Amino acid sequence: MVRVITYGTFDLFHEGHYKLLQRAKQLGDYLIVGVTTEEYDQARGKLNVVDSLITRIENVKKTGFADEIIVEESQGQKFRDIKKYNIDIFTVGSDWVGTFDYLKDYCKVVYLDRTKNISSTMLRVQETQIQRIGIIGTGRIANRFIPEATLVSGVNTRCVYNPNYKSARAFADKWGIDAYEDIEEFYRMSDIVYIASPHVTHYEYIKQALEHGKHVLCEKPLCLDRKQVKELFAYAKEKNLILFEGIKTAYCPGFAKLLGIACSGVIGNIRAVDACFTKLEDSNKRELIDREYGGSFTELGSYCLLPILKLFGQDYEDLRFEAIEDKNGIDLYTRVYMRYPNGLATAACGLGVKSEGKLLISGTTGYIVVEAPWWKTSYFEVHHENPGDVERFSERFLGDGLRYEICDMLSMINGDTRKDFKLTRGDSETIAGIMEKFLELRRAQK
Ligand code: CTP
Repeated sequence: MVRVITYGTFDLFHEGHYKLLQRAKQLGDYLIVGVTTEEYDQARGKLNVVDSLITRIENVKKTGFADEIIVEESQGQKFRDIKKYNIDIFTVGSDWVGTFDYLKDYCKVVYLDRTKNISSTMLRVQETQIQRIGIIGTGRIANRFIPEATLVSGVNTRCVYNPNYKSARAFADKWGIDAYEDIEEFYRMSDIVYIASPHVTHYEYIKQALEHGKHVLCEKPLCLDRKQVKELFAYAKEKNLILFEGIKTAYCPGFAKLLGIACSGVIGNIRAVDACFTKLEDSNKRELIDREYGGSFTELGSYCLLPILKLFGQDYEDLRFEAIEDKNGIDLYTRVYMRYPNGLATAACGLGVKSEGKLLISGTTGYIVVEAPWWKTSYFEVHHENPGDVERFSERFLGDGLRYEICDMLSMINGDTRKDFKLTRGDSETIAGIMEKFLELRRAQK
């Protein structure tokens, strides 16, 4: 009996997939088909998979060619499967010629001609309208955003707006997009507005973009006032638009894995979460000049509050701040202490104090440690009482990581609302509420 194996995502099942499975089956007597998980696809840079794993498996099953279907979830699995299932022939489409030659030592490798003019990528683009992105703001993050957006199929960065037209023009020339002096024209040319302007301008821009019927992806913090966040989400809902806060950590696969493992009971009951993020900044930068809204906590607090809210929830019992301030009253380093019914949390942020940026999750039977840059989660360790008992986990974090949030936002625009559990409306409201309290106290102290 000749045993054949093939792998694929099989998203939006099409004729190319059918023909490949048909020919793979003809290569032998028994065909095993490996269908990839969404997580594995993300890890290898394949974003935007539309169908669920179950649907993709069902579609492969319906062809009647597969004698057995397995799930492919990690790199290196192909080699293990070839041994485990006693495979004679490994086959995939000709788009992979050469890639799997390393398997030739273990079985025969056959590249089958790919069916012309059809692919899941083509169907994804055809099925959904390309979303044109317009960017407001031309700073560092906007510069990082463009190369990341080009990796997500289904979006196209078209234009930029900055009240200072000269900056917009220079940015547009650098990236080969359009710049508009007239914001109305900018809105006309955008379907999604990405807001990367200073914090204090977010509220007005979000409101205006929603009024113009545009989806909004806004950099963190969405707003520095809880009521405003509530109002904007309600408005977006009323207009049937997506409003999305861009805390990139929330959407990266490593952070999702971390939360899953932390909540699995592996360290018992979680009793403490301590998150620290420091990034030394020049004293002439906006973050350290803006007396009203600048400072470490408004700049970095969203990252540190995220794991706390995801692990302990939004209903804290007590909240306290301590800060080291410069002569203008801007916080160079802030610690936030939070008490929950069953645990304690701290968030520490610094633009003028450097510290070991760590995320530490402590439980009744062990702890999880994620070293800096934990906000781009790619590696973490689970420790127990016995110092030798350490489990290590890793996950890829590609590029600047903005691709994950862009991808999830696009899925939501295209109707997949399941993605919003990663950062809920309530999470965004709670973060804004905490920032609001912090700023109130700062004002009162002045
Ligand atoms: N395949 C094929 N002919 C096509 C498309 C895919 O023979 N026109 C083959 C691939 O070479 C692979 C299998 O079908 O062996 C599963 O491919 P998959 O990556 O799931 O499909 P694509 O359409 O190539 O997906 P994408 O556009 O997302 O890369």
